[in-house]
Amino acid sequence: MLARLSLVAALAVLAFAAPAVAQTPIVLKLSHVVANDTPKGKASDFFAKRAGELTGGKVKVEVYANSTLYKDKEEMEALQLGAVQLLAPSLAKFGPLGVREFEVFDLPFIFDNDEELHKVTTGPVGALLFTKLESKGIKGLAYWDNGFKSFSANKPLRTSDDFKGLKMRIQSSKVLESQMRAVGALPQVMAFSEVYQALQTGVVDGTENPHSNLYTQKMHEVQKHMTVSDHGYLGYAVIANKKFWDGLPADIRGQLEQAMKDATAYANKIAKEENEQALAKVKASGKTQVYVPTPAERLALKKSMVKVHKEMESRIGKDVIDSVYKATGFDPNKL
Ligand code: LMR
Repeated sequence: MLARLSLVAALAVLAFAAPAVAQTPIVLKLSHVVANDTPKGKASDFFAKRAGELTGGKVKVEVYANSTLYKDKEEMEALQLGAVQLLAPSLAKFGPLGVREFEVFDLPFIFDNDEELHKVTTGPVGALLFTKLESKGIKGLAYWDNGFKSFSANKPLRTSDDFKGLKMRIQSSKVLESQMRAVGALPQVMAFSEVYQALQTGVVDGTENPHSNLYTQKMHEVQKHMTVSDHGYLGYAVIANKKFWDGLPADIRGQLEQAMKDATAYANKIAKEENEQALAKVKASGKTQVYVPTPAERLALKKSMVKVHKEMESRIGKDVIDSVYKATGFDPNKL
């Protein structure tokens, strides 16, 4: 009995004398599908660093790039289940989730430049779209830019006729499907991580992506031609598992919101530059012929694809499309 008591006492003394154990940090997994040296990759790493700094080490953000944790389709499910806390999926990923309003971003030629795009992402339309995610257990935190897409294939793509019969890889999106069909191409849905091999082996003939994605996945090494068509936008929504996010201590959530604000400013500052540098590297590689369409050629392509806006009206919502037109000043009837 005495021995037991003294053991308890000894343990109590030990516990008392033990140095304060460092608090275990809250771990936040951020998964994405692109390379580290892309706008999204760099912004994710920036956020991880800033989150550590602003929370004084109380939060550790682990970034998993290049589909190392999840591929396109699995990502959303993992977030909803709470297996990963943060994602930065392309805006095209929300349509398959049932939030079709986001598909407005995939419409071909809906934005002509960053200025028009930012009127939407930083304005009331962008904020309204985030509220639509809540019922899916998702909290929208920020919009991160990538950039405008180019087409690539093993033949020159200058007019809509050049697309006829080509198998073109797209993200899973009814709007992108319709865009490809509008010029007679055959859309092929495929995960991002599989595109390089599919191009290399001829499973698909061509694809579309901003230059930073094309270059970092080495797609230019297996595509002979690329057209800087700027025909559509590819960007991201940074999202969190809502339950996790809302359950964070208020002070930590505030610090993470600040880290996200800083990362967003950084992301949207570097995106254009990163894409320009990637294009320069593609050109320097000499492996693919880069063609910049004349304004008349681009307009002709625009005219052949813009009918997709009307076709997709009942899916996306005429009100959503109109609110984007209103924000940007675009009028499809005045082409
Ligand atoms: C794609 O699948 O082409 C893109 O969503 C990849 C990305 O996340 O930039």
